[in-house]
Amino acid sequence: MLIQNRPSLRPSEVTPRHLWLDRRRFLSLAAGVAFVPASGGPFALGEPQTSRKDATSYNNFLELGESKEAPSANADAFNPRPWTLEVGGEVEKPFTLDFDALQKIFPLEERVYRLRCVEAWSMVIPWIGFPLSALLKRANPTSRGKYVEFLSLHDPKRLPGQRNPLYSWPYREGLRLDEAMNPLTIMAVGMYGDILPAQNGAPVRLVVPWKYGFKSIKSVVSVRLVEAQPKTTWGMMQPSEYGFYSNVNPTVDHPRWSQKKERRIGDILKRDTLMYNGYADQVAHLYAGMDLRKNY
Ligand code: MTE
Repeated sequence: MLIQNRPSLRPSEVTPRHLWLDRRRFLSLAAGVAFVPASGGPFALGEPQTSRKDATSYNNFLELGESKEAPSANADAFNPRPWTLEVGGEVEKPFTLDFDALQKIFPLEERVYRLRCVEAWSMVIPWIGFPLSALLKRANPTSRGKYVEFLSLHDPKRLPGQRNPLYSWPYREGLRLDEAMNPLTIMAVGMYGDILPAQNGAPVRLVVPWKYGFKSIKSVVSVRLVEAQPKTTWGMMQPSEYGFYSNVNPTVDHPRWSQKKERRIGDILKRDTLMYNGYADQVAHLYAGMDLRKNY
């Protein structure tokens, strides 16, 4: 969805298309990424944004270490180039794209989303990305594709945290097809007006704003349509604590702590956690009739 009431002209409106494409390519290679800003549109959110410093120095990214500080401290160890993203499985037209092709094919836009971690803290982050639905439609899913399985890069040389035998690598996640096709679900390639830092999941990651943060898998190399519900990293580790759905839900506690409240990073006082992280209008229909205690 493109934002209509933009505050200023886009380069495409003042520059011949071939020059604009070159400029866009230049921007994407040199410093940041060219995108439609969220300002004034439906994805502006209107809540104070988490500082860039907090969002890039308080992270969960096991592949770069287990503490919140480790991913930013170890970010230089991870070179996200070269990169390829494979889209396959139950599709008619599987394809593989490198990162530059990804950025050129899918128009980028900014979306300011809440991110609620299962550990009961939250942030507000301006992502830059494109709808996951655009990626999936390009591959023409067959009727057998009922779920989407995501895999992160598996390369212990580039991601030294993968030498930790406690976890099974690569990190994996999954969504039901209708969740994946929901317009809120995006693949992000940037944040705060620039390309994604390594610690936030460079060069391309999933963002599913109504689910706990661990569903938003980082540094994705494979997106496959599959027939059966895919296995997930946390579901395999602790099935009694982390279900497949993992929708933000203040009425269903984690077995070891409450999910009723959260601490917005940068705030002192806690705030109430909202059903579906505040996105109920857009996603509650996906779960109509389901027992959310069972399907946690
Ligand atoms: N993706 C991979 N590959 N490895 C991870 O350890 N951690 C998840 C998720 N994606 C994780 C991952 C968790 S628990 C959270 S809360 C978010 O990334 C954090 O994203 P952020 O650091 O950009 O805020």
